[in-house]
Amino acid sequence: MSTQNKEEPLVFAPETYQYEKGSLSSEQVEQDPILQFKAWFDEACKVEKLPESTNFSTARLPSGRVSNRVVLFKELDHKGFIIYSNWDQSKKALDVKSNPYAALTWFWPTLQRQVRVEGITEFVDKQTNQTYFDTRPRGSRIGAWSSPQSTVISGREEFDSIYAANELKFANLEKIPCPEFWGGVRIVPLEIEFWQGRNSRLHDRIVFRRESVDDDWEIVRIAP
Ligand SMILES: Cc1cc2nc3c(=O)[nH]c(=O)nc-3n(C[C@H](O)[C@H](O)[C@H](O)COP(=O)(O)O)c2cc1C
Repeated sequence: MSTQNKEEPLVFAPETYQYEKGSLSSEQVEQDPILQFKAWFDEACKVEKLPESTNFSTARLPSGRVSNRVVLFKELDHKGFIIYSNWDQSKKALDVKSNPYAALTWFWPTLQRQVRVEGITEFVDKQTNQTYFDTRPRGSRIGAWSSPQSTVISGREEFDSIYAANELKFANLEKIPCPEFWGGVRIVPLEIEFWQGRNSRLHDRIVFRRESVDDDWEIVRIAP
């Protein structure tokens, strides 16, 4: 008998715990959310395993279907948050091409903090791409050239043979050019939430929000 539609739980109410490591108020935060993020990120770098890992959410139009995936947050500037990926045929590429809105979420469990960003994606320029690309290990640079990210392939061998061909192609080249289809996307924030876990799920949530990227930030506290 098929179990496909059975609603009996296979997982139910994993053990709960309390959040009691800190607190947050609008008096404590920087007036600029980018600087507040930087302060929290620096703290996360001291105690978390992979503080730069972030969940990147996108939505395809016209269906509205949402997807997300973990990526590595690589750069922060005064405009926003930059991640790097393949923007050719990957799911996220097709999502972003149909709908520029996207979101990022970091969870830093040791600090019991979450940061959520909602914003508008924009592609960074060629020079920024190349500068970051040059920092990647050689294998990852050749890998970027070799993977038609998120498209169906016949097997690992197909990918391995493209990689091997590219290794030969770039064998005599110290500086590998960044592929046109690969690079950074900046998420320019419209809303940034700083979440500090508190006892009894009465968390502190301070939100910076603005209607457009040209507006000033409004700072509000929202209910847990
Ligand atoms: C810890 C971790 C870090 C990752 N970092 C990246 C990254 O920086 N860029 C990227 O394109 N994919 C990264 N991935 C892979 C993505 O999660 C995902 O598989 C890939 O981007 C394809 O996503 P898509 O099919 O939704 O476009 C990472 C995965 C993990 C688990």
